[in-house]
Amino acid sequence: MPNLQSSLTSVHNLLKEKIKDCSKQEDVELLRIQYLGKKGEITAVLKGLGKVDPKERAEIGKLGNQLKNEAETLLKNQIEIIQNNYYTTLAKNEYFDVTATPSFSYMGKTTGSIHPISKTWQKLEEVFTSMGFSIMDGPQIETDYNNFEALNFTDDHPARDMQDTFYTTDGHLLRTHTSAVQVRAMQKLNPPMRMIVPGRVFRFEEIDASHEHTFYQMEGMLIDKKVSVSNLLYLMQSLLKNIFEKEVNVRLRPGYFPFVEPGFELDMECLICDGKGCSVCKKSGWVEVLPCGLVHPNVIKSGGLDPNKWQGAAFGLGLNRLVMMHNHIEDIRYFQNPNIEFLNQFN
Ligand code: DAH
Repeated sequence: MPNLQSSLTSVHNLLKEKIKDCSKQEDVELLRIQYLGKKGEITAVLKGLGKVDPKERAEIGKLGNQLKNEAETLLKNQIEIIQNNYYTTLAKNEYFDVTATPSFSYMGKTTGSIHPISKTWQKLEEVFTSMGFSIMDGPQIETDYNNFEALNFTDDHPARDMQDTFYTTDGHLLRTHTSAVQVRAMQKLNPPMRMIVPGRVFRFEEIDASHEHTFYQMEGMLIDKKVSVSNLLYLMQSLLKNIFEKEVNVRLRPGYFPFVEPGFELDMECLICDGKGCSVCKKSGWVEVLPCGLVHPNVIKSGGLDPNKWQGAAFGLGLNRLVMMHNHIEDIRYFQNPNIEFLNQFN
């Protein structure tokens, strides 16, 4: 039936013409409904197939299906053309220059500043590198060995409970302290050596004004032929003086950590309340900032060194606490909270 054949071809040709004018995906969708939908024009022509002489039906049916498939392809291609055009235009007209100085502002201030933790971190790196310390890094997902075992925490050591730990399902853990890098450092750097490890650590903690699950520490370690408590104290005092740019009142208490012997807690007078007592110092007037000690011989051994030849001192600085003291911040939760008002104060 040539009639049906020619209507199919002319409907198809019309679609071919119209599709060129489609510049939006919605227009293509409308054409799809108009031609291929349930009540569409191609569908309507094909519906007439039943009335065609059975001899010709197969041939026209074949043509119908072929044109229907072609129509589908035309629609699909047009959508691709439209999408490509969209991205080409976007790339031409909109781009980010990541090196540009921000020109926008929020409440009269230019947004974007260095986070107070990073500022202190940078300053500490400067202070320590000027004293001959190298800067080390380590993974945040650690082995039990580096975080505990090599640091003289045995399997059933009660001190493991001092640090509530996040474990991964494959037997690793999120490092609970930057001390986890001590052994890596001893293995990597030839003694005598001095190094610091600033970094992020994690504890499975109840969160309150002075506890967070994610916070920052800076580990320090020095290994030499002879290291004494007075070397350690001198180092700690010059460190605090450098950070606070003034003398701060400190006190030393014995402290227990499996990886140091003797171990100490170095507290400083709370600068937020001037020692009167507040939420940060838990009303005691003192804040623990610098636990430290002489490296335990077992740890020196874990680092592959002979404890009869080498001695060491180590300390672990709580960066959040330090920044809180320095800037009179009363709640540790501010650091993880992306509150621009808080951050703007450090611009
Ligand atoms: N790693 C300990 C903690 O997070 C802190 C610490 C204590 C580090 C004594 C030291 C140290 O290097 O000597 O609780």
